[in-house]
Amino acid sequence: MTMVRPRVLEARPADLQLAAEVLQAGGLVAFPTETVYGLGAHARDAAAVARLFRVKGRPADNPVIVHLAGLDALGQVAAQVTPLARSLAAQFWPGPLTLVLPARGDVPAVVTGAAPTVGVRVPDHPVALGLLAAADLPVAAPSANRSGRPSPTTAAHVTAEFGADVEVVVDGGACRLGLESTVVDARGRVPVVLREGTVTREDLGLGLRGVPAGRSSAAPGAGTSTAASPGTRYRHYAPRCPVELVAPGQGGIRAAIRARAGEHVGLVAAAPADAVEAVAVGGRVTVLATFHDAVELGRRLYDALRRGEQAGVDVIVVESVPEAGVGRAVMDRLRRAAGQLG
Ligand code: TXA
Ligand code: MG
Repeated sequence: MTMVRPRVLEARPADLQLAAEVLQAGGLVAFPTETVYGLGAHARDAAAVARLFRVKGRPADNPVIVHLAGLDALGQVAAQVTPLARSLAAQFWPGPLTLVLPARGDVPAVVTGAAPTVGVRVPDHPVALGLLAAADLPVAAPSANRSGRPSPTTAAHVTAEFGADVEVVVDGGACRLGLESTVVDARGRVPVVLREGTVTREDLGLGLRGVPAGRSSAAPGAGTSTAASPGTRYRHYAPRCPVELVAPGQGGIRAAIRARAGEHVGLVAAAPADAVEAVAVGGRVTVLATFHDAVELGRRLYDALRRGEQAGVDVIVVESVPEAGVGRAVMDRLRRAAGQLG
């Protein structure tokens, strides 16, 4: 059976105009952002968003993020913009930070998961911003993967995931960050992190107070995950083969490969490829990615998981990174990919 493919567009102005018209007409358009590819639908068109949920296989109680072309559009979906939201938006938008705010009554319940809040962000990607400006709409866009799967960081990932279930994929190359946005409840006086991302707790603490991040925890509630995002309840980011996390260092990798004797191991490890290959000698090992730090692992992780799947490995072994800065977001995703719900 030949797979029917969606229409893949480049990101020239005429392509963005066409994609914008598809959104306006209630169609589904996948597009790149600085974090991951999103699957967009007209946020005021409840039927379009309902189809988005069906295509993704997404639980109805998991709200989607509304993407805006700029800060000025915030009033189109938020009923109230708190001083905290104003300050965070001024500092981090366009960028990988989603703000949860009281929703306007006319935002469809399918977008908000029938909650009184809405998550919003302005993405930092010229293609996303060009598309949002051309469509002149708030665009509801979850990550462009079937529910539970790794997020897509290239147009090819999206195409492989959805085939012709989406009308258009705008190809803007590989995503710069590779991890989904930080989600923050911005209704109160201090930000409450609902999902970790590349805007770190340290960034939020420093940004708000102008004091070293270590001291931000002195304020009650600051930066703590008291109420996780609905989406973080579900198994996520998981490829079709098991993922095993090992401690940092080559000892952990060697032990994992030994324990998997006879199996085909996919490896994601923190060392130059030749060093990892040397460790892997003797086993049936495919190096899926190497990285120097948590930021690089974050950028490459989902692609590595998908390539392991394609290579048909029995298990993907991933070397852990320290839980500091972006490492916290990376380890959150990895634990979920490994089936250790958080
Ligand atoms: O970087 C990103 O955020 C990407 C790109 C496409 O923008 N989008 C993305 O969407 O990751 P999604 O649907 O895969 O994840 C959205 C997360 C979920 O955990 C969801 O529960 C949470 O944001 N969220 C959305 N609206 C919310 C709300 N009103 N209250 C609490 N959490 C919310
Ligand atoms: Mg997602």
